[in-house]
Amino acid sequence: MGDLWLVLRKFVANAKTVATIAPSSRALSQATVRGIDWSKANVVVELGAGTGPITEELVKTAPPAVRLVVNEFLPEFCDALRQKFPDLDIASGDARRLTELLADRGIPVVDYVLSGLPLTHFAPADRDTVMNQVGQILSPDGEFRQLTTAPWLYRGLYRRYFREVSFRLVMWNLPPGGVYCCRRWIPPAERT
Ligand SMILES: C[S@@+](CC[C@H](N)C(=O)[O-])C[C@H]1O[C@@H](n2cnc3c(N)ncnc32)[C@H](O)[C@@H]1O
Repeated sequence: MGDLWLVLRKFVANAKTVATIAPSSRALSQATVRGIDWSKANVVVELGAGTGPITEELVKTAPPAVRLVVNEFLPEFCDALRQKFPDLDIASGDARRLTELLADRGIPVVDYVLSGLPLTHFAPADRDTVMNQVGQILSPDGEFRQLTTAPWLYRGLYRRYFREVSFRLVMWNLPPGGVYCCRRWIPPAERT
């Protein structure tokens, strides 16, 4: 109940930033993490972690050798994350500064980026800023995963940034949603 209340309160105050009235369900969080190839992953970054439902699945699933970096913009959510996961690297700040947040940590390459960011609410230039940094930091066979509560609707949007985009539907969420799984980033000069 605590997380639900915190998300609702922050939604009322910052609707465009929070963009949801409830944290992701366990089903959606598990779908976001499912299938990560832990035998190859060294670094996994989560963007827009909120109160941490996906973080929780990540922490449960990731082998200890994998480096996890969890980003969130709103200070109250960062406090909640630090309380729940005292040993985790919580990178507070704007995901539009992703390269800098990772450079501060000496991280040049990332294997998976899991995003709960409300990217469809971002101005197009801000979305490009985030996605270009994601693409540049991802390893060649790395993967970007984006949560949504609008199943299939934004496949075209992510196809702008990645050559391969698939979608996992998750009905058990409020509202039903899913995860876009994206590979093979398209640099800006090659986009149509
Ligand atoms: C739709 S909520 C998802 C929260 C959580 N991942 C979940 O699944 O319940 C979006 C989250 O992105 C965060 N956010 C929005 N803009 C951001 C930005 N520019 N940088 C980092 N986080 C941001 C919000 O504060 C919020 O916690």
